[in-house]
Amino acid sequence: MENHNEPIYLYPVWIRLWHVLNAVLCLLLIITGLSIQFSNPTITVRFNVAVAIHNVAGVLLSFNYILFFIGNLFTKNGGYYVIEVKGFFKRLKIQFHHYTIGVFKKEPAPFPVTTESKFNPLQQFSYVAVMYTIIPLAIISGLGLLYPDLTVNGLIGISGLDYTDLLHLFCGFVITIFMCVHLYFCTFGKTAFSNFKSIFNGYH
Ligand code: HEM
Repeated sequence: MENHNEPIYLYPVWIRLWHVLNAVLCLLLIITGLSIQFSNPTITVRFNVAVAIHNVAGVLLSFNYILFFIGNLFTKNGGYYVIEVKGFFKRLKIQFHHYTIGVFKKEPAPFPVTTESKFNPLQQFSYVAVMYTIIPLAIISGLGLLYPDLTVNGLIGISGLDYTDLLHLFCGFVITIFMCVHLYFCTFGKTAFSNFKSIFNGYH
């Protein structure tokens, strides 16, 4: 049984380095992505700068993702991302109830952080969805847009690039929403800032 007043070491150095780079690059990608989407292409310098930054940040994020993927494959951190399917929906509901009601009544967390499980069910679900579905799709569709020759030529009369573009936009949208929700829920620690400290010093 763990003493919850003792700090637990949960975020190894490589996860912290991956995370800080990932967060900075995602922010850059969101800002430049919005700029590319909504700027007037005739103002070429601004548009070109946004495209250049977006491309470089996208390639860096892809390499950083490989670090995350391999790190999780070969260290025990990957175990936190394995969802136990049995009873998962029920656990999600309990956590949802806690986030929407329990937390405001100062009820204790239904799934306290331990070295065996550092994520609550909602964190686990959203991290798995974003890290193992949305980010890979964003990377693959981004590569497809960077190298259009690689994309499928056409399907039912619509260019393959249009589908790729739509998928890339969708991923960007989901990642933006994820990041806002992620930041909000990270304030639900012991104090509003304690979780943010954890991802810098490694201790919960
Ligand atoms: C300014 C931006 C960000 C801040 C301040 C931030 C903050 C945090 C904090 C405090 C934690 C530790 C608490 C927890 O495990 O929930 C965390 C973990 C995590 N964050 Fe973020 N985050 C940011 C951006 C992102 C982005 C853009 C992504 C993915 C697209 C992301 C994915 C994750 C993942 C997967 C973990 C768990 C890592 C692990 O322990 O294996 N974060 N973040």
